[in-house]
Amino acid sequence: MPARVLPDLPIIIRRRKIVEMERTLVLVKPDAVTRGLTGSIIKRLEEQGLKLVALKMLQMDNNLARKHYAPHQGKPFFEGLVAYICSAPVVAAVFEAEGAIQLARKTMGATDPAKAEGGTIRGDWGLDIERNSVHGSDSAETARREIELFFGDDEITYYQRIDSRPIES
Ligand code: RTP
Ligand code: MG
Repeated sequence: MPARVLPDLPIIIRRRKIVEMERTLVLVKPDAVTRGLTGSIIKRLEEQGLKLVALKMLQMDNNLARKHYAPHQGKPFFEGLVAYICSAPVVAAVFEAEGAIQLARKTMGATDPAKAEGGTIRGDWGLDIERNSVHGSDSAETARREIELFFGDDEITYYQRIDSRPIES
């Protein structure tokens, strides 16, 4: 079967140079969904200029959870992490921006909420290292793999945020 190719990222030209846009996968995790924090978390990310291009709520099953967390297979926390992410629905989102991956992770804060700064999502709402409210892709390659797990090509939308700089500027 041929490898799936995600729809192309839009090309942004700024001062005659092509600016590379990135996409990242965000999951609002069960602890946040069950505390009614979904909207607040999506809002925090949007406020950073991250453009929401895909969104869905779903109940992850064991198969999807194992695929998503495959890089952590064999680590002592793996089985607990899989059980936790399947314990209630998640909200999956794709955000797009220049430097989207690092921007989203900065907005989320350190993995362990006890070490995350105030004003970050995990610093403000995370409960412990497992129930840390959000997931964000950690590299462009990871983002591509993770987005494909949660979204079909036809679920990624195209539009311009009117509060962002124009595509050619
Ligand atoms: P995420 O993938 O969820 O965005 O988090 P991250 O990159 O900051 O952290 P990562 O190392 O990828 O770990 C994935 C998730 O596993 C849980 N974890 N538990 N008990 C532990 O020592 C431990 N370490 C990591 C966390 O829930 C983390 O988000
Ligand atoms: Mg990670």
